[in-house]
Amino acid sequence: MSKILITGATGGLGGTTARFLRDKVSAENIFVLVRDLESDKAKALKNDGFNLRKGDYDDFEGLKKAFNGIDVLYFVSASDISKRIPQHKNVVEAAKESNIKHILYTSTVRNDESSEAPLFAVVDAHLKTEDWIKKSDLTYTLLRHNLYAEVIPMFLGSKEQLLQSKSIYLPTGTGRTSFVPREDFAEAEANILAAAEKFENQVLEFNGSESTSFEAVAALLTHILNQPIDYVSPDVEEFEKTMASFGLPEDIIGMLTMFSLGIANGEFDQKSDDLEKVLGRKTKSIGKFLNDVYA
Ligand SMILES: NC(=O)c1ccc[n+]([C@@H]2O[C@H](COP(=O)([O-])OP(=O)(O)OC[C@H]3O[C@@H](n4cnc5c(N)ncnc54)[C@H](OP(=O)(O)O)[C@@H]3O)[C@@H](O)[C@H]2O)c1
Repeated sequence: MSKILITGATGGLGGTTARFLRDKVSAENIFVLVRDLESDKAKALKNDGFNLRKGDYDDFEGLKKAFNGIDVLYFVSASDISKRIPQHKNVVEAAKESNIKHILYTSTVRNDESSEAPLFAVVDAHLKTEDWIKKSDLTYTLLRHNLYAEVIPMFLGSKEQLLQSKSIYLPTGTGRTSFVPREDFAEAEANILAAAEKFENQVLEFNGSESTSFEAVAALLTHILNQPIDYVSPDVEEFEKTMASFGLPEDIIGMLTMFSLGIANGEFDQKSDDLEKVLGRKTKSIGKFLNDVYA
């Protein structure tokens, strides 16, 4: 039986994937990478029967040790966008040197790969990582993710905030996104890890079953909250000024602007049904997701 190592296991995606996988594969064959063996999340994973390996994407030699004897690596992209390029290079190089057989990497969907694209800062690291993986001679599966549905409450704030503002204010224009609840990615990716040989050297585009605009999100929220919620798409300059006047930190404004313009540019308006095929069902609807968060 293959030994599988899951990175990012103390986080939302990796942890949920590991737990779905445990229903399909004996826990003795599942290893999880953690940065701090003594953290509460690492201890919880140990109590759940997973084998712990210590490693940090910044530490190449430590990664080689952590990858020793592993056959299949589920590589969750690093969370700090500014550090991704050197960290991802470390992971791919260490996988190669440790004789990992198959690497699965969580990348991103996109339309525009040019350096002028609003999301180039995000896409660039994924493009480079996909390229290193393809040139590495490792067997690969590239899992190109659409946006998490969890991004919607991150952008819009809490129920209380929405009831006060009665408005969605984002420069996303008429852009549509095929949002995916994170749990649906995790379930599908556990299905793949349990039968990794069926997905060798494939590129999968993981989109939600519906494509939704923020105008449609406002209509759904109007229904869920029983209060009119407007959608306003300001121009970028006005958006940045307004956010700054609320005291939002510059890096958060930058992130909101970058992803909003990416949505407006159609980066996440994708049609592939690869995710439905791997799940064997449709993804959770955005109406249900919003109802669970805001009702
Ligand atoms: N498609 C989307 O809409 C979307 C949205 C958000 C994020 N993402 C991407 O998806 C990834 C997973 O999402 P998530 O929700 O699971 O994020 P999360 O809950 O923040 O988890 C991130 C995981 O990565 C680990 N990690 C971060 N830096 C690391 C490093 N230098 N070395 C080793 N491990 C490291 C964290 O470990 P610690 O517990 O030690 O911090 C944690 O386990 C994110 O990292 C990000 O790249 C995508």
